[in-house]
Amino acid sequence: MLNDMNPDDILGDYKEATLALYGNLTRKVFFSDREIPYPDGKLIVSRTDLDGIITHVNKSFVDMSGYVETELIGMPHSILRHPEMPSLAFKDLWDTVNNRRKWQGFVKNLRKDGAYYWVKATVIPNIREDKVVGYTSVRRKPSRTKIDESIRLYATLT
Ligand SMILES: Cc1cc2nc3c(=O)[nH]c(=O)nc-3n(C[C@H](O)[C@H](O)[C@H](O)COP(=O)(O)O)c2cc1C
Repeated sequence: MLNDMNPDDILGDYKEATLALYGNLTRKVFFSDREIPYPDGKLIVSRTDLDGIITHVNKSFVDMSGYVETELIGMPHSILRHPEMPSLAFKDLWDTVNNRRKWQGFVKNLRKDGAYYWVKATVIPNIREDKVVGYTSVRRKPSRTKIDESIRLYATLT
C-alpha cells in the first residue's frame, strides 16, 4: 500500500535507498541533500490509528511533506521515513507510546520531492475511557544545535 517513490517527483540530484519497513514492507526512496528549513511559528500536526496509519494532518504538515492530503490519509506514517533515520529511534518511539508515555525526539523527514526537513517531535497516545485509541504528533522547530547533535548521534546508530 506504500508505493515506491517516483523519480519524476524529485528535484535535483538524488540518491536511492531501499527501506525495510515494519511488517516485511520495503520501499524504494529517492533523497537529495536539499534541506527545507522548518517554518517559524508553525506547528506540524498529525494523528494516527494504533498501527501508525495517518488519520489526520494539518495544513503545515501537508505543506512541509510535499504531498497532498489525499496521498497521506490512510498511509503508514513511514511515508516520511528518511533512510538516514536509525530504526532505533522509531523503536524507542513505539516502545514509549505503547507504555502510554510521551515520546520526544528529533526526526529527519523525507519529502515527496526528495528534500528533507528536521523536526522536534512530541508523540502522545490518545486515551479515551482508559483505552489507547491512536496517537498524535506535534512538531516544532528544532534548534540548529540539536539538529547537529542528532546528526552525530544517528550516524552512530542503526
Ligand atoms: C503519531 C506518530 C507520528 C509519527 N511521525 C513520524 C514522522 O514524522 N516521520 C517518520 O519517519 N516516522 C514517524 N512515525 C513513526 C512511523 O510510524 C514508523 O515507525 C517509522 O517511520 C519507521 O518505519 P517502520 O516502523 O515501518 O520501520 C510516527 C509514528 C506515530 C505514532
